[in-house]
Amino acid sequence: MIGVVGAGAMGAGIAQVAAVRGHKVVLADAQSAAIERARAGHARAMDREVERGRLMRPEADAAHARLTYIDGVNELQLAAFSDCRLVIEAVVEDLAVKQRLFRTLEPVVAPDAVLASNTSSLSIAALGSACTQAERVIGVHFFNPAPVMPLVEIIPAITTDHSISESVRELVDGWGKITVVAADTPGFIVNRIARPFYGESLRIFEEGIAEPATVDWAMRELGGFRMGPFELMDFIGLDVNFAVSASVFAAMFYDPRYRPALTQQRLVEAGLLGRKTERGFYDYRAGAAKPEPRDDETLGHAIVDRVLAMLVNEAVDAVQMRVASPDDIELAMTKGVSYPKGLLAWGDEIGAGEVLATIEALQEEYGEDRYRPSPLLRRVARTGGRLLQ
Ligand SMILES: NC(=O)c1ccc[n+]([C@@H]2O[C@H](COP(=O)([O-])OP(=O)(O)OC[C@H]3O[C@@H](n4cnc5c(N)ncnc54)[C@H](O)[C@@H]3O)[C@@H](O)[C@H]2O)c1
Repeated sequence: MIGVVGAGAMGAGIAQVAAVRGHKVVLADAQSAAIERARAGHARAMDREVERGRLMRPEADAAHARLTYIDGVNELQLAAFSDCRLVIEAVVEDLAVKQRLFRTLEPVVAPDAVLASNTSSLSIAALGSACTQAERVIGVHFFNPAPVMPLVEIIPAITTDHSISESVRELVDGWGKITVVAADTPGFIVNRIARPFYGESLRIFEEGIAEPATVDWAMRELGGFRMGPFELMDFIGLDVNFAVSASVFAAMFYDPRYRPALTQQRLVEAGLLGRKTERGFYDYRAGAAKPEPRDDETLGHAIVDRVLAMLVNEAVDAVQMRVASPDDIELAMTKGVSYPKGLLAWGDEIGAGEVLATIEALQEEYGEDRYRPSPLLRRVARTGGRLLQ
Protein backbone atom coordinates (compact mmCIF):
# COMPACT_ATOMS: atom_id res chain seq x y z
CA MET A 1 0.00 0.00 0.00
CA ILE A 2 1.19 3.51 -0.89
CA GLY A 3 0.19 6.63 1.04
CA VAL A 4 -0.01 10.16 -0.34
CA VAL A 5 -0.66 13.20 1.86
CA GLY A 6 -1.81 16.36 0.11
CA ALA A 7 -4.40 15.91 -2.62
CA GLY A 8 -3.57 19.01 -4.68
CA ALA A 9 -2.23 18.99 -8.22
CA MET A 10 0.81 16.87 -7.37
CA GLY A 11 -0.54 14.55 -4.68
CA ALA A 12 -3.62 13.61 -6.71
CA GLY A 13 -1.40 12.92 -9.74
CA ILE A 14 1.06 10.78 -7.78
CA ALA A 15 -1.78 8.80 -6.18
CA GLN A 16 -3.20 8.17 -9.66
CA VAL A 17 0.16 6.90 -10.96
CA ALA A 18 0.51 4.42 -8.07
CA ALA A 19 -3.11 3.21 -8.31
CA VAL A 20 -2.88 2.64 -12.07
CA ARG A 21 0.30 0.64 -11.44
CA GLY A 22 -1.60 -1.73 -9.17
CA HIS A 23 -1.05 -0.36 -5.66
CA LYS A 24 -3.69 0.23 -3.08
CA VAL A 25 -3.38 3.94 -2.33
CA VAL A 26 -4.56 6.06 0.59
CA LEU A 27 -4.77 9.76 -0.19
CA ALA A 28 -5.37 12.30 2.58
CA ASP A 29 -5.74 16.06 2.65
CA ALA A 30 -6.46 18.61 5.37
CA GLN A 31 -9.19 20.16 3.18
CA SER A 32 -12.39 18.32 2.27
CA ALA A 33 -12.65 20.36 -0.94
CA ALA A 34 -9.24 19.09 -2.07
CA ILE A 35 -10.28 15.49 -1.44
CA GLU A 36 -13.48 15.98 -3.43
CA ARG A 37 -11.59 17.62 -6.28
CA ALA A 38 -9.10 14.74 -6.33
CA ARG A 39 -11.86 12.13 -6.32
CA ALA A 40 -13.68 13.82 -9.23
CA GLY A 41 -10.37 14.42 -11.02
CA HIS A 42 -9.47 10.74 -10.75
CA ALA A 43 -12.86 9.71 -12.17
CA ARG A 44 -12.30 12.02 -15.16
CA ALA A 45 -8.70 10.85 -15.57
CA MET A 46 -9.77 7.19 -15.62
CA ASP A 47 -12.45 7.96 -18.24
CA ARG A 48 -9.79 9.65 -20.33
CA GLU A 49 -7.46 6.64 -20.03
CA VAL A 50 -10.28 4.45 -21.36
CA GLU A 51 -11.20 6.88 -24.19
CA ARG A 52 -7.57 7.04 -25.30
CA GLY A 53 -7.27 3.26 -25.24
CA ARG A 54 -4.59 3.21 -22.55
CA LEU A 55 -6.75 1.22 -20.11
CA MET A 56 -9.72 -1.12 -20.53
CA ARG A 57 -12.83 -0.06 -18.60
CA PRO A 58 -12.49 -2.80 -15.94
CA GLU A 59 -8.81 -1.88 -15.41
CA ALA A 60 -9.69 1.80 -14.98
CA ASP A 61 -12.49 0.95 -12.56
CA ALA A 62 -10.17 -1.36 -10.60
CA ALA A 63 -7.51 1.39 -10.42
CA HIS A 64 -10.07 3.88 -9.12
CA ALA A 65 -11.35 1.32 -6.60
CA ARG A 66 -7.79 0.95 -5.25
CA LEU A 67 -7.87 4.60 -4.13
CA THR A 68 -9.10 5.41 -0.63
CA TYR A 69 -9.71 9.06 0.24
CA ILE A 70 -9.16 10.35 3.77
CA ASP A 71 -10.66 13.68 4.72
CA GLY A 72 -8.37 15.08 7.41
CA VAL A 73 -4.87 14.46 8.75
CA ASN A 74 -5.18 14.14 12.52
CA GLU A 75 -3.58 11.13 14.23
CA LEU A 76 -6.76 9.10 14.02
CA GLN A 77 -7.25 9.79 10.33
CA LEU A 78 -3.61 9.09 9.57
CA ALA A 79 -4.01 5.60 11.09
CA ALA A 80 -5.22 4.65 7.58
CA PHE A 81 -1.52 4.88 6.60
CA SER A 82 -0.38 2.16 9.03
CA ASP A 83 0.00 -0.48 6.27
CA CYS A 84 1.87 1.76 3.83
CA ARG A 85 5.41 0.81 2.80
CA LEU A 86 5.89 4.29 1.32
CA VAL A 87 4.17 7.58 2.11
CA ILE A 88 4.80 10.53 -0.20
CA GLU A 89 3.85 13.95 1.09
CA ALA A 90 2.80 16.63 -1.40
CA VAL A 91 1.42 19.27 0.96
CA VAL A 92 2.21 22.99 0.72
CA GLU A 93 5.83 24.01 0.19
CA ASP A 94 6.46 25.00 3.80
CA LEU A 95 9.19 23.37 5.86
CA ALA A 96 7.39 23.72 9.19
CA VAL A 97 4.16 22.21 7.80
CA LYS A 98 6.00 19.30 6.22
CA GLN A 99 8.06 18.65 9.36
CA ARG A 100 4.93 18.68 11.51
CA LEU A 101 3.27 16.22 9.17
CA PHE A 102 6.26 13.83 9.27
CA ARG A 103 6.30 14.06 13.07
CA THR A 104 2.64 12.99 13.22
CA LEU A 105 3.07 10.37 10.54
CA GLU A 106 6.21 8.63 11.78
CA PRO A 107 4.71 6.90 14.84
CA VAL A 108 1.69 5.79 12.78
CA VAL A 109 3.52 3.94 9.99
CA ALA A 110 5.52 0.69 10.27
CA PRO A 111 9.13 1.05 11.45
CA ASP A 112 10.41 0.11 7.98
CA ALA A 113 8.04 2.34 6.01
CA VAL A 114 9.68 5.04 3.90
CA LEU A 115 8.69 8.70 4.30
CA ALA A 116 9.16 10.67 1.08
CA SER A 117 8.67 14.29 0.14
CA ASN A 118 7.73 15.71 -3.23
CA THR A 119 9.25 19.08 -2.27
CA SER A 120 10.62 21.18 -5.13
CA SER A 121 13.02 23.23 -3.08
CA LEU A 122 13.29 22.30 0.59
CA SER A 123 16.23 20.43 2.09
CA ILE A 124 15.57 16.73 2.55
CA ALA A 125 18.03 16.74 5.45
CA ALA A 126 15.86 19.34 7.21
CA LEU A 127 12.77 17.19 6.67
CA GLY A 128 14.59 14.11 7.96
CA SER A 129 15.65 15.98 11.07
CA ALA A 130 11.98 16.09 12.13
CA CYS A 131 11.90 12.28 12.32
CA THR A 132 13.33 9.83 14.82
CA GLN A 133 14.53 7.65 11.96
CA ALA A 134 15.95 10.19 9.51
CA GLU A 135 17.47 7.31 7.54
CA ARG A 136 14.07 6.50 6.03
CA VAL A 137 13.34 10.03 4.79
CA ILE A 138 13.99 10.76 1.10
CA GLY A 139 12.99 13.16 -1.67
CA VAL A 140 10.91 11.78 -4.53
CA HIS A 141 10.30 14.72 -6.85
CA PHE A 142 7.67 14.28 -9.57
CA PHE A 143 6.99 16.84 -12.28
CA ASN A 144 3.64 18.38 -13.13
CA PRO A 145 1.40 16.70 -14.27
CA ALA A 146 2.70 13.59 -12.50
CA PRO A 147 0.76 11.04 -14.60
CA VAL A 148 2.22 12.53 -17.81
CA MET A 149 5.75 13.70 -17.04
CA PRO A 150 8.19 10.78 -17.14
CA LEU A 151 10.92 12.16 -14.86
CA VAL A 152 11.23 11.60 -11.12
CA GLU A 153 14.23 12.90 -9.17
CA ILE A 154 15.22 10.68 -6.25
CA ILE A 155 16.98 12.71 -3.57
CA PRO A 156 18.71 10.97 -0.69
CA ALA A 157 19.77 13.25 2.17
CA ILE A 158 23.07 12.79 4.00
CA THR A 159 21.08 10.87 6.60
CA THR A 160 19.18 8.60 4.15
CA ASP A 161 19.98 4.89 4.18
CA HIS A 162 21.50 3.86 0.83
CA SER A 163 19.29 0.77 0.56
CA ILE A 164 16.22 3.01 0.83
CA SER A 165 17.31 5.12 -2.15
CA GLU A 166 17.76 1.95 -4.15
CA SER A 167 14.44 0.39 -3.21
CA VAL A 168 12.49 3.62 -3.79
CA ARG A 169 14.17 4.08 -7.17
CA GLU A 170 13.31 0.52 -8.16
CA LEU A 171 9.70 1.00 -7.06
CA VAL A 172 9.25 4.25 -9.00
CA ASP A 173 11.01 2.76 -12.06
CA GLY A 174 8.35 0.06 -11.88
CA TRP A 175 5.72 2.79 -12.26
CA GLY A 176 7.07 3.43 -15.75
CA LYS A 177 8.95 6.56 -14.67
CA ILE A 178 12.50 7.58 -15.55
CA THR A 179 14.35 8.12 -12.30
CA VAL A 180 17.53 10.10 -11.74
CA VAL A 181 19.43 10.51 -8.49
CA ALA A 182 20.10 14.07 -7.33
CA ALA A 183 22.14 15.38 -4.42
CA ASP A 184 20.21 17.18 -1.68
CA THR A 185 21.13 20.61 -3.08
CA PRO A 186 18.91 23.60 -3.94
CA GLY A 187 16.67 22.96 -6.95
CA PHE A 188 18.02 19.39 -7.22
CA ILE A 189 18.83 18.85 -10.94
CA VAL A 190 16.11 20.36 -13.11
CA ASN A 191 15.13 23.39 -11.04
CA ARG A 192 18.79 24.33 -10.67
CA ILE A 193 20.04 23.81 -14.21
CA ALA A 194 16.95 25.37 -15.84
CA ARG A 195 17.38 28.70 -13.99
CA PRO A 196 19.29 30.49 -16.79
CA PHE A 197 16.59 29.56 -19.31
CA TYR A 198 14.41 32.07 -17.50
CA GLY A 199 17.02 34.25 -15.80
CA GLU A 200 19.18 35.03 -18.82
CA SER A 201 16.12 35.58 -21.02
CA LEU A 202 14.75 38.00 -18.44
CA ARG A 203 18.09 39.80 -18.38
CA ILE A 204 18.03 40.14 -22.17
CA PHE A 205 14.52 41.61 -21.90
CA GLU A 206 15.36 43.90 -18.98
CA GLU A 207 18.26 45.39 -20.89
CA GLY A 208 16.08 46.04 -23.90
CA ILE A 209 18.12 43.73 -26.15
CA ALA A 210 14.93 41.97 -27.23
CA GLU A 211 11.33 41.76 -26.11
CA PRO A 212 9.61 38.51 -25.04
CA ALA A 213 8.12 37.70 -28.45
CA THR A 214 11.54 37.83 -30.10
CA VAL A 215 13.27 35.82 -27.35
CA ASP A 216 10.50 33.20 -27.47
CA TRP A 217 10.67 33.00 -31.26
CA ALA A 218 14.47 32.62 -31.16
CA MET A 219 14.49 29.93 -28.46
CA ARG A 220 11.72 27.99 -30.20
CA GLU A 221 12.53 28.35 -33.87
CA LEU A 222 16.30 28.65 -33.76
CA GLY A 223 17.04 26.89 -30.47
CA GLY A 224 14.55 24.05 -30.90
CA PHE A 225 12.96 24.43 -27.45
CA ARG A 226 9.33 23.39 -27.27
CA MET A 227 8.29 26.69 -25.69
CA GLY A 228 10.03 30.01 -25.34
CA PRO A 229 10.98 31.14 -21.82
CA PHE A 230 8.37 33.89 -21.51
CA GLU A 231 5.46 31.81 -22.79
CA LEU A 232 6.63 29.02 -20.50
CA MET A 233 6.79 31.34 -17.46
CA ASP A 234 3.27 32.58 -18.30
CA PHE A 235 2.15 28.96 -18.54
CA ILE A 236 3.77 27.82 -15.26
CA GLY A 237 2.57 30.95 -13.44
CA LEU A 238 4.93 33.83 -12.76
CA ASP A 239 4.36 33.49 -9.01
CA VAL A 240 5.38 29.81 -9.04
CA ASN A 241 8.38 30.39 -11.31
CA PHE A 242 9.52 33.42 -9.31
CA ALA A 243 9.18 31.53 -6.02
CA VAL A 244 11.48 28.76 -7.32
CA SER A 245 14.03 31.33 -8.54
CA ALA A 246 13.94 33.24 -5.26
CA SER A 247 14.24 30.08 -3.21
CA VAL A 248 17.20 28.68 -5.21
CA PHE A 249 18.90 32.12 -4.99
CA ALA A 250 18.52 32.26 -1.18
CA ALA A 251 19.46 28.61 -0.73
CA MET A 252 22.64 29.18 -2.77
CA PHE A 253 23.70 31.83 -0.25
CA TYR A 254 22.81 34.56 -2.74
CA ASP A 255 25.19 33.47 -5.47
CA PRO A 256 24.61 36.16 -8.18
CA ARG A 257 24.35 33.46 -10.85
CA TYR A 258 20.86 32.71 -9.54
CA ARG A 259 19.65 36.26 -8.86
CA PRO A 260 15.96 36.55 -9.82
CA ALA A 261 14.73 39.38 -12.03
CA LEU A 262 13.01 42.49 -10.68
CA THR A 263 10.83 42.62 -13.78
CA GLN A 264 9.35 39.27 -12.87
CA GLN A 265 8.88 40.29 -9.24
CA ARG A 266 6.97 43.41 -10.29
CA LEU A 267 4.61 41.38 -12.49
CA VAL A 268 3.96 39.06 -9.55
CA GLU A 269 3.36 42.03 -7.24
CA ALA A 270 0.94 43.47 -9.79
CA GLY A 271 -0.98 40.19 -9.86
CA LEU A 272 -0.09 39.60 -13.52
CA LEU A 273 0.71 35.92 -13.11
CA GLY A 274 0.45 34.67 -16.69
CA ARG A 275 -2.26 32.58 -18.31
CA LYS A 276 -4.15 32.00 -15.06
CA THR A 277 -4.81 35.74 -14.66
CA GLU A 278 -5.01 36.33 -18.42
CA ARG A 279 -2.01 38.66 -18.27
CA GLY A 280 1.66 38.12 -17.69
CA PHE A 281 4.40 38.78 -20.20
CA TYR A 282 1.64 38.40 -22.77
CA ASP A 283 -1.98 39.52 -22.79
CA TYR A 284 -4.37 36.57 -23.14
CA ARG A 285 -7.60 38.55 -22.92
CA ALA A 286 -10.06 38.23 -25.78
CA GLY A 287 -9.15 40.58 -28.60
CA ALA A 288 -5.64 41.35 -27.30
CA ALA A 289 -3.08 41.78 -30.06
CA LYS A 290 -0.36 39.14 -30.25
CA PRO A 291 3.05 40.81 -30.47
CA GLU A 292 5.18 39.83 -33.45
CA PRO A 293 8.84 38.89 -33.03
CA ARG A 294 11.46 41.00 -34.71
CA ASP A 295 12.53 39.48 -38.01
CA ASP A 296 16.24 39.45 -37.18
CA GLU A 297 18.03 36.13 -37.39
CA THR A 298 21.37 37.58 -36.27
CA LEU A 299 19.76 38.84 -33.07
CA GLY A 300 17.90 35.53 -32.70
CA HIS A 301 21.11 33.51 -32.91
CA ALA A 302 22.85 35.84 -30.46
CA ILE A 303 20.00 35.27 -27.97
CA VAL A 304 20.12 31.48 -28.35
CA ASP A 305 23.93 31.38 -28.06
CA ARG A 306 23.84 33.45 -24.87
CA VAL A 307 21.06 31.57 -23.09
CA LEU A 308 22.39 28.21 -24.21
CA ALA A 309 25.93 29.01 -23.07
CA MET A 310 24.57 29.87 -19.62
CA LEU A 311 22.54 26.65 -19.53
CA VAL A 312 25.52 24.51 -20.57
CA ASN A 313 27.70 26.27 -17.98
CA GLU A 314 25.10 25.49 -15.31
CA ALA A 315 24.92 21.82 -16.35
CA VAL A 316 28.73 21.52 -16.34
CA ASP A 317 28.85 23.15 -12.93
CA ALA A 318 26.27 20.63 -11.66
CA VAL A 319 28.58 17.82 -12.88
CA GLN A 320 31.55 19.38 -11.14
CA MET A 321 29.61 19.91 -7.91
CA ARG A 322 28.37 16.31 -8.05
CA VAL A 323 24.70 17.24 -8.11
CA ALA A 324 24.17 14.16 -10.29
CA SER A 325 25.96 11.95 -12.80
CA PRO A 326 26.40 13.38 -16.32
CA ASP A 327 23.98 10.78 -17.70
CA ASP A 328 21.33 11.65 -15.12
CA ILE A 329 21.77 15.36 -15.86
CA GLU A 330 21.16 14.70 -19.56
CA LEU A 331 18.09 12.57 -18.79
CA ALA A 332 16.71 15.10 -16.32
CA MET A 333 16.75 18.01 -18.75
CA THR A 334 15.37 16.07 -21.71
CA LYS A 335 12.67 14.19 -19.75
CA GLY A 336 11.86 16.69 -16.98
CA VAL A 337 11.64 19.88 -19.04
CA SER A 338 11.71 18.39 -22.57
CA TYR A 339 14.86 20.17 -23.77
CA PRO A 340 15.61 19.13 -27.34
CA LYS A 341 19.05 17.78 -26.37
CA GLY A 342 21.00 17.05 -23.21
CA LEU A 343 22.96 20.18 -22.31
CA LEU A 344 26.33 18.43 -21.98
CA ALA A 345 25.99 16.77 -25.39
CA TRP A 346 24.78 20.09 -26.78
CA GLY A 347 27.81 21.81 -25.28
CA ASP A 348 30.06 19.25 -26.97
CA GLU A 349 28.32 19.92 -30.27
CA ILE A 350 28.95 23.65 -29.93
CA GLY A 351 32.41 23.01 -28.48
CA ALA A 352 33.46 23.65 -24.90
CA GLY A 353 35.86 26.37 -26.11
CA GLU A 354 33.06 28.19 -27.91
CA VAL A 355 30.73 28.01 -24.88
CA LEU A 356 33.55 29.29 -22.67
CA ALA A 357 34.26 32.15 -25.08
CA THR A 358 30.59 33.25 -24.96
CA ILE A 359 30.55 33.24 -21.16
CA GLU A 360 33.91 35.00 -20.92
CA ALA A 361 32.73 37.69 -23.33
CA LEU A 362 29.69 38.27 -21.09
CA GLN A 363 31.91 38.35 -18.02
CA GLU A 364 34.21 40.85 -19.70
CA GLU A 365 31.29 43.01 -20.77
CA TYR A 366 29.43 43.04 -17.46
CA GLY A 367 32.16 42.38 -14.91
CA GLU A 368 29.64 40.35 -12.91
CA ASP A 369 30.16 37.11 -11.05
CA ARG A 370 26.91 35.98 -12.62
CA TYR A 371 28.92 35.20 -15.77
CA ARG A 372 31.44 32.97 -14.02
CA PRO A 373 32.55 30.03 -16.11
CA SER A 374 32.53 26.68 -14.37
CA PRO A 375 36.10 25.54 -13.65
CA LEU A 376 35.22 22.23 -15.30
CA LEU A 377 34.16 24.06 -18.48
CA ARG A 378 37.55 25.82 -18.50
CA ARG A 379 39.36 22.53 -17.94
CA VAL A 380 37.53 20.72 -20.73
CA ALA A 381 38.04 23.66 -23.10
CA ARG A 382 41.76 23.69 -22.26
CA THR A 383 42.34 19.97 -22.66
CA GLY A 384 40.06 19.52 -25.66
CA GLY A 385 38.05 16.81 -23.87
CA ARG A 386 34.32 16.29 -23.83
CA LEU A 387 31.70 17.61 -21.42
CA LEU A 388 29.62 14.44 -21.59
CA GLN A 389 31.81 11.57 -20.47
N1 LIG B 1 2.89 22.22 -8.86
C1 LIG B 1 4.05 21.84 -9.35
O1 LIG B 1 4.38 22.11 -10.50
C2 LIG B 1 4.99 21.03 -8.49
C3 LIG B 1 5.92 20.21 -9.12
C4 LIG B 1 6.76 19.40 -8.34
C5 LIG B 1 6.66 19.46 -6.97
N2 LIG B 1 5.75 20.29 -6.37
C6 LIG B 1 5.68 20.27 -4.90
O2 LIG B 1 4.60 19.43 -4.52
C7 LIG B 1 4.01 19.92 -3.32
C8 LIG B 1 2.54 20.18 -3.54
O3 LIG B 1 2.38 21.07 -4.60
P1 LIG B 1 0.99 21.26 -5.37
O4 LIG B 1 1.29 22.06 -6.57
O5 LIG B 1 0.32 19.94 -5.53
O6 LIG B 1 0.21 22.15 -4.32
P2 LIG B 1 -1.37 22.32 -4.13
O7 LIG B 1 -1.55 23.63 -3.49
O8 LIG B 1 -2.09 22.03 -5.41
O9 LIG B 1 -1.75 21.16 -3.08
C9 LIG B 1 -1.33 21.13 -1.76
C10 LIG B 1 -2.38 20.39 -0.97
O10 LIG B 1 -1.87 20.15 0.35
C11 LIG B 1 -2.94 20.31 1.26
N3 LIG B 1 -2.36 20.55 2.57
C12 LIG B 1 -1.76 21.64 3.04
N4 LIG B 1 -1.28 21.42 4.28
C13 LIG B 1 -1.61 20.13 4.61
C14 LIG B 1 -1.38 19.30 5.72
N5 LIG B 1 -0.71 19.75 6.78
N6 LIG B 1 -1.84 18.06 5.68
C15 LIG B 1 -2.51 17.59 4.61
N7 LIG B 1 -2.75 18.33 3.53
C16 LIG B 1 -2.30 19.58 3.52
C17 LIG B 1 -3.76 21.45 0.71
O11 LIG B 1 -5.08 21.40 1.21
C18 LIG B 1 -3.68 21.18 -0.79
O12 LIG B 1 -4.76 20.38 -1.23
C19 LIG B 1 4.82 21.13 -2.91
O13 LIG B 1 5.82 20.74 -2.03
C20 LIG B 1 5.41 21.60 -4.25
O14 LIG B 1 6.59 22.33 -4.08
C21 LIG B 1 4.89 21.05 -7.10
